[in-house]
Amino acid sequence: RSIKSLATSPSSHILRRGYASEAVPDRKVAVLGAAGGIGQPLALLMKLNPLVSSLALYDIANTPGVAADVSHINTRSEVSGYSGEAELGKALEGADVVIIPAGVPRKPGMTRDDLFNINAGIVKGLCQAIAKYCPHALVNMISNPVNSTVPIAAEVFKKAGTYDPKRLFGVTTLDVVRAKTFYAGKAKVPVAEVNVPVVGGHAGITILPLFSQATPKANLSDAEITALTKRTQDGGTEVVEAKAGKGSATLSMAYAGAIFADACLKGLNGAPDVVECSYVQSTITELPFFASKVRLGKNGVEEVLGLGPLSDYEKEGLEKLKPELQSSIEKGIKFANQ
Ligand code: NAD
Ligand code: LMR
Repeated sequence: RSIKSLATSPSSHILRRGYASEAVPDRKVAVLGAAGGIGQPLALLMKLNPLVSSLALYDIANTPGVAADVSHINTRSEVSGYSGEAELGKALEGADVVIIPAGVPRKPGMTRDDLFNINAGIVKGLCQAIAKYCPHALVNMISNPVNSTVPIAAEVFKKAGTYDPKRLFGVTTLDVVRAKTFYAGKAKVPVAEVNVPVVGGHAGITILPLFSQATPKANLSDAEITALTKRTQDGGTEVVEAKAGKGSATLSMAYAGAIFADACLKGLNGAPDVVECSYVQSTITELPFFASKVRLGKNGVEEVLGLGPLSDYEKEGLEKLKPELQSSIEKGIKFANQ
C-alpha cells in the first residue's frame, strides 16, 4: 500500500484517533496567583505542556493581560483568564490540577514563617473554593510557608468533607532542583544525570537533602557535603538577598512548579514510574506531613516512599528538623480551626 492510502484508510484513521485520545486525555490546569512573579512564567511553561488541554489563569487582578498574552502561543491548550473572587469558581470548575502560587513573597531578613499572617488567610480562602468547585483536583501548594500552608489546606478540606490525602502536595521541587545544580557543580558531573532526594519540609533546616544517595556517585568530603547541604537549605534566602527587596525565586520556582505539575499530569494519565519528592501526609516519620519521594498515579499519591539509608550526618539533620516542622504543622492546623 502507498503511504497515502495507509494514512487515509478508515481503520488507520480510527486507530490514530483512538491513540491520540487515549494517550493525551483532556486535562484542565488552574493556576491561582497567575499574574504574580511565579504565576506568569508558570503560566507560560504550562502553556508549553502538551498534556494540558485547558489552562485557567486566576488572580485577584491583572489576569486578563497575562491570559491574552499567553493565549497567543500556538500550543494545544485553550487559555482563559479570571479576575477577582467572583470568577474563582469558573476558573476552578473541572480542574484536574490546581497550582497555588498566590501570596506574598519574602524580603531580606524575613523567614518564610513571617509570611504566615497574610498567606494563611489567602490559602484558606482558595482551598475553600477548591473544596466547592473541584474537590477531586490534585492541589500543588507553592505558597509559603509550605510547612504550614499544606496542613491548613488539609484542615479546610477535612471541614468541607472533601479531604483526600492522596491529592494534596506541598511543592518542594525547587529544593531538589537546587540540590541537583549545586551537587553537579561540586561533584563535576553532568547536571542532567544528577538525582538527589530532598526530604523533610520547605524552610531552613527542615530542608534535608540526602547527598549520600546522590547519583552519579562522587567522593565528596564531609566539609563539602556540609557546605552543599547548607547552600540547599539557604537557596531561597540566597535569591531573596540577591533580589534585594524585589521578592524571592520566581523563574526557578516556575520551572520547578512546571516539573511537578507535569509529573502529576503524567501520573493521572497512567504513566508508569513517576516519582518526585513532595511534602505530603505521611507515616514514614512520626510527623503527620513530611516531604519524601512519592510515586504518582491515577489518583495522585500512589505510594509514599521511605527515606532509604541515611548517613550519620543526615540522621542528625533529620532529628534536628523535627521540632521545627512539627510546630509549623501545628500552627497551620490551629489557624485553620480557629
Ligand atoms: P508575587 O507577589 O509576585 O505574586 C503573588 C500573586 O498572588 C500576585 O499576583 C497576587 O495578586 C496574587 N494573589 C494574592 N492574593 C490572592 C488571592 N487571594 N487569590 C489569587 N491570587 C492572589 O509573589 P511570588 O514571587 O509569585 O510568590 C508567591 C508565593 O510563592 C510566595 O508565598 C512565595 O513565598 C512562594 N514561593 C514558594 C516557593 C516554593 O518552593 N514552594 C518558591 C518561591 C516562592
Ligand atoms: C524558595 O525556596 O525560593 C521559596 O520558598 C521562596 C523563599 O522565600 O525563599
